Amino acid sequence: MKLNWMHWFNHKHKHLVVKFGVAVLLMGLAFRLFLSTSNRFSPKLEAPFPEKTADSEHPIAVQFPQNEDQDEIPFPGKETQFPEKETHFPEKTGDSEPPISGLVPEDGDQDQIAPSNGKCDIFIGDWIPSTSGAAYNESCPTIENPQNCIRNGRPDTGYLYWKWKPRYCDIPKFDPGRFLEMMRNKSWALIGDSISRNHVQSLLCMLSTVEQAVQVYHDKDYRSRRWHFPSYNFSVSVVWSPFLVEAAIFEDFDGVASSEVELHLDKLDKKWVDEYHSWDYMVISTGKWFLKTAIYYEGNEVLGCHYCPKRNLTELGFDFSYRKALSFVMNFIVKSDYKGTIFFRTSTPDHFEGGEWNTGGNCNRTAPAKEGEVEVKEVNKILRNIELEEFQKAAAEASKHGVNLKLLDLFQLSLLRPDGHPGPYRQYHPFEQGKNAKLQTDCLHWCLPGPIESWNDILMEMIVNG
Ligand SMILES: *[C@@H]1O[C@H](CO)[C@@H](O)[C@H](O)[C@H]1NC(C)=O
Ligand SMILES: *[C@@H]1O[C@H](CO)[C@@H](O)[C@H](O)[C@H]1NC(C)=O
Ligand SMILES: *[C@@H]1O[C@H](CO)[C@@H](O)[C@H](O)[C@H]1NC(C)=O
Ligand SMILES: *[C@@H]1O[C@H](CO)[C@@H](O)[C@H](O)[C@H]1NC(C)=O
Ligand SMILES: *[C@@H]1O[C@H](CO)[C@@H](O)[C@H](O)[C@H]1NC(C)=O
Repeated sequence: MKLNWMHWFNHKHKHLVVKFGVAVLLMGLAFRLFLSTSNRFSPKLEAPFPEKTADSEHPIAVQFPQNEDQDEIPFPGKETQFPEKETHFPEKTGDSEPPISGLVPEDGDQDQIAPSNGKCDIFIGDWIPSTSGAAYNESCPTIENPQNCIRNGRPDTGYLYWKWKPRYCDIPKFDPGRFLEMMRNKSWALIGDSISRNHVQSLLCMLSTVEQAVQVYHDKDYRSRRWHFPSYNFSVSVVWSPFLVEAAIFEDFDGVASSEVELHLDKLDKKWVDEYHSWDYMVISTGKWFLKTAIYYEGNEVLGCHYCPKRNLTELGFDFSYRKALSFVMNFIVKSDYKGTIFFRTSTPDHFEGGEWNTGGNCNRTAPAKEGEVEVKEVNKILRNIELEEFQKAAAEASKHGVNLKLLDLFQLSLLRPDGHPGPYRQYHPFEQGKNAKLQTDCLHWCLPGPIESWNDILMEMIVNG
């Protein structure tokens, strides 16, 4: 399967630039909106600091009506509401269909037995009904307004009643008390773009059921922040570094760029590198920002660009810079003599359907998809392929150098959750009478609470049994 995938990739590669020119421009714009300003897109609706504004903006009275809520909670005995658990899977559609998990050979798909280390692949599986529901509720103070789907009036709650089930084993739910015990005197950093921010909020909310974190640091834009759990002397940071490499970004708070991103493919972003050795655990990721219009540098010389028709520069394509930047980052990591644990998280797909972010695309599903039901977009395939290849190269080196580098491959389980995004409910009660503002739909970030909690179930499993 790996071979097929490579074949597919090489075949397509030649046509990349042409084929994705327009699509990528659009994606670039979309992610400019989402990734840079997810909490500022509409300042009237969303302040970046929910701690300060949540109460005044969303009076307690405006809460989800209890009765309706209960009506929608699937409970035992009503299992028929759920799609039946799959016992077979759609046949592969052939060479043209690249594998979802690049690390599992196709043959292994059918008779995927435990690999030699005796562990099953926890990234391959299905979402199955679960009655336990959300790990926390909408009053968790670290949820930012655009992800607080319940408070924003999302009417369905079925998306909260699913659990990720690896196909050949089981993973327990995240245990916040146990996690905090294990993390005494330790520190975590989640490094990347706004999906990392989304992830850190999920983690903080899960932990807040045991102890409320205290924010001890924020940069001036509240993009990089650190929280401390006093009883455990445990700290969690989110580090804003959307490219991981050094980038000059010329965007205002509304995501409007006055110039192309200047991306140095051979310099690491100091934001994370300067503190690198201070953290015990890191979850590092990147992705969609590479789709933006950018000028690429190496050794301070211009190499070319991506989507810069007004400049007399060579179009190199985002795949060029993504591979080069990731390779550079990985090379640093594997030789870093780092003593902690690094998770490289794959980028996760968006779920705009029936259009893109700006052409009426939405994500109105209310239940997970089954394997094969959701199309993997070309752009996501390309990013993913590069991630897996660069990781695999690095993993071999890392073990040689004694660096504990692990793949946190959340692509597939995320792909199957088109129901997990805010959609229009990134705004507060978007369909309220009298509101005629144009609605921005978010099919990229995840509702909190929501499927993103599974990411922490998996992290916990990898820490305990990894
Ligand atoms: C939400 O959770 C908190 C803490 O677990 C609890 O005190 C509160 O009553 C819950 N609120 C709702 C609306 O369920
Ligand atoms: C945490 O650090 C304190 C102070 O250095 C020490 O007394 C304690 O034993 C440490 N706890 C753990 C679990 O390492
Ligand atoms: C907290 O943990 C740090 C290591 O992360 C350690 O240096 C420090 O002594 C600890 N403080 C206390 C009060 O345990
Ligand atoms: C574009 O760049 C090429 C090579 O650097 C140069 O030969 C050409 O004259 C430039 N064209 C314009 C319009 O500047
Ligand atoms: C859901 O979105 C699709 C487009 O992706 C649209 O065709 C359909 O009508 C929508 N359904 C509802 C109930 O809004």
